[in-house]
Formats: sequence, structure tokens, C-alpha cells
Amino acid sequence: MRFDILTIFPSFFESPLKCGVLGKAIERGIVRVGVHDIRGYTSDRHRTTDDYPYGGGEGMVMKVEPIFRAVEKVKEEVTREGLRPWVILLTPQGQPLRQEKVIELANRDHLALICGRYEGVDERVRELVVDEEISIGDYILSGGEAAALVVVDAVSRLVRGVLGCGRSPLEESFSTGLLEYPHYTRPRVFMGLEVPEVLLSGNHGEIARWRRYQALKRTYERRPDLLEKASLSEEDLRMLEEIKKDREDKDGHP
Ligand code: ADE
Repeated sequence: MRFDILTIFPSFFESPLKCGVLGKAIERGIVRVGVHDIRGYTSDRHRTTDDYPYGGGEGMVMKVEPIFRAVEKVKEEVTREGLRPWVILLTPQGQPLRQEKVIELANRDHLALICGRYEGVDERVRELVVDEEISIGDYILSGGEAAALVVVDAVSRLVRGVLGCGRSPLEESFSTGLLEYPHYTRPRVFMGLEVPEVLLSGNHGEIARWRRYQALKRTYERRPDLLEKASLSEEDLRMLEEIKKDREDKDGHP
């Protein structure tokens, strides 16, 4: 998988791309990330990447020419490698990034990520080079850099070999459609709080059942919207009834 990030702040990515599973994957060459300074594609003496908005108003707008040239260069390189370039603009106006979208992106072999800054980018960037616009959430960041990092991280984890054997991203929250059950490790008791007995029982059937119950309970309590899309078995539905009843008994009303 190859990523190319286009930014006016290349140093933003220095440390995050060295850390954890992503850092390892890059070191091993399973994931490649090119970081390109948009300023390097300017042609004026001041290396200008932004300008005043036509029509007036607050703030600056990122210019089209440097971004256009940077994308052309990346596309040329990527195509020469036999990959299929796919260009994404990070913007709060884009499609929301959810796990289904992450899976879809992980099926590609290349992603170019354009990080916008200032008040926005010249609309012709969208028209000329962008295949897709993505937002990481309904809030405004000061630029697309943090959002690009989120995309690189979330997508890379799904690339074969990145998580190592024994760990399947398909068993995680959002892939199963539910939030995860609680996890515990040693010590068995801390500040009077004990690890649930069932986890020490060695009974794998009971443990699996407890975990499923807890995952359903968490999802019901924190993100009931996810239950509508999750695929639930008869047993799951029975557990959910139990969870609801338990809640009603505690709250004292249906
Ligand atoms: N740039 C600024 N805010 C953003 C967001 N929420 N998602 C993606 N890119 C952004």
C-alpha cells in the first residue's frame, strides 16, 4: 500500500510515522508513505501557497497551481509503478470516515491525501484532481494534516501483515458492528477492584458468552444506533432482552 501526503507542513508527520504498528509496517516496507511539501511545487520567488479570496472576505485560500503540480507528479510516479492513483481531499465537507469507508480504501493500492489549510482550497483543485473528499468528523481542524494521519493509520491497520499474525482487525469494534467487551490483565485485584471471576475460570464457552454479553451491553448503553446495523443472532437478541430488562429494573421504569 502506498500513501502520498501533500502538505505545507511535512514535519508534522515525522514522529507519528515512526511509532507503533504503523512505524513497524513502514520500516518493513509493507506500507510506504511519501510526504510532499506543496511549497516545493510553487514557481514564484516567495513560494506562495495561498492567496486572498476573490470576492473578498476573511482568511486565505490555498492556490490551485502548486497542488495541481504536486498531484500530477505523484500520479506520474504511482502510475509508473503500476499502481492506480486515487486522490483524496481532507475537508470537513467530505464524506464521513467510518470503518466501512476505511475497508473500502484499504482495498486500493494507492491513496494521495491533500491536506487543506486556511479557509479552504481553490475550488478548481476539487474539479481537476480530487476523486473523493473525506471528513474525519463534524468538527473543524486547523488543517487536514491530522485527518490525513487518521486515514493512513486506520487504513494501514487493515493491510495484510501490518498487525502481525494472530490479530484480526475483523474481530474489532465496528467490524463486528459492536463496541468491544472490557479487557483485564494482571493484577487480579487493584484498589479493591477485582477481575470478573468468569475470566479466571478457564471455561472458554462461558468466557465467550460473557464477552458477547458485555459487548452487547456496552453498545446498548453507549451507542444504541450501532445495534440497528449489527448482525445479531437469536442468542444475541435474548441477551439484549435481558440487558434491557436489567436496565429497566435499575432505572425503575420501562
Ligand atoms: N480539515 C479541517 N477539518 C477537517 C475534518 N473534520 N476532517 C477532515 N479534514 C479537515
